[in-house]
Amino acid sequence: MFIVNISPRTAGKTTNSGWLSKALYERGHRVKGFDADHSQQWIQWHEDAKAVEEKAEGEGKGVGFPFEIVSAATPRFHHQHSVPDNVIGVVDCGHSENHPEITDSLLRVADLALVHMSPTSSDFQRLTEPMEGTPLKDMITRSAPLRETTVAPPAWVLLNRVVHNAGSTRAYRNKLKDLGWNVLTTTIPRNEEFANSTLGPVYDADDTNFGALVTELERKGLIK
Ligand SMILES: Nc1ncnc2c1ncn2[C@@H]1O[C@H](COP(=O)(O)OP(=O)(O)OP(=O)(O)O)[C@@H](O)[C@H]1O
Ligand SMILES: [Mg+2]
Repeated sequence: MFIVNISPRTAGKTTNSGWLSKALYERGHRVKGFDADHSQQWIQWHEDAKAVEEKAEGEGKGVGFPFEIVSAATPRFHHQHSVPDNVIGVVDCGHSENHPEITDSLLRVADLALVHMSPTSSDFQRLTEPMEGTPLKDMITRSAPLRETTVAPPAWVLLNRVVHNAGSTRAYRNKLKDLGWNVLTTTIPRNEEFANSTLGPVYDADDTNFGALVTELERKGLIK
């Protein structure tokens, strides 16, 4: 299956793709990463993590993420990439505002679309009523006739960079639900550990909110 990580603009996708994929791996899933953003930042993270591990005394495994991550920023993703049934392909995407053709291609083969958003006015606006381009919900809907199933993939919003105890989390969860979005119960907190994690290896992801995210996705039957 493919989990595609999408948003109109910068929204924590690469950070969350890295941590979620590692939490899935730690939980025993077979994982393959796909970097579908021209920035190639997930692949850069992988390389940096390998270098850090190689230099580290004692550990020195130099594997970075313990699974393959391939470059895949192409509007022909749906032709070029597939995964076996027992593998979860985690796809980090670029801005759907700027590269809608890649997001459209990913949505043709997605088994789950994770929409990344901070509970802020500007993220909400760009997701739900952008002044330019096609709203992400419409992109998800328009994928249906192009898919083997002819049904749009399940799409769930993951609220991230959430401030502890801030009212914005509940407020934007409710606003999104009012507009018909599914919103995951699990949220990802705003903190330094995640903010500055893309220069090195990810350890013990299952012990963080990403472990709770895997549990929620499993319980909801969103991952196979
Ligand atoms: N949980 C978090 N807490 C605090 N900061 C975070 C968290 N997650 C991500 N960030 C920060 O938010 C910014 C955007 O994150 P990231 O690069 O993962 O987003 P993105 O959606 O991949 O962006 P782009 O689409 O531009 O590649 C970065 O500065 C990152 O360090
Ligand atoms: Mg990114």
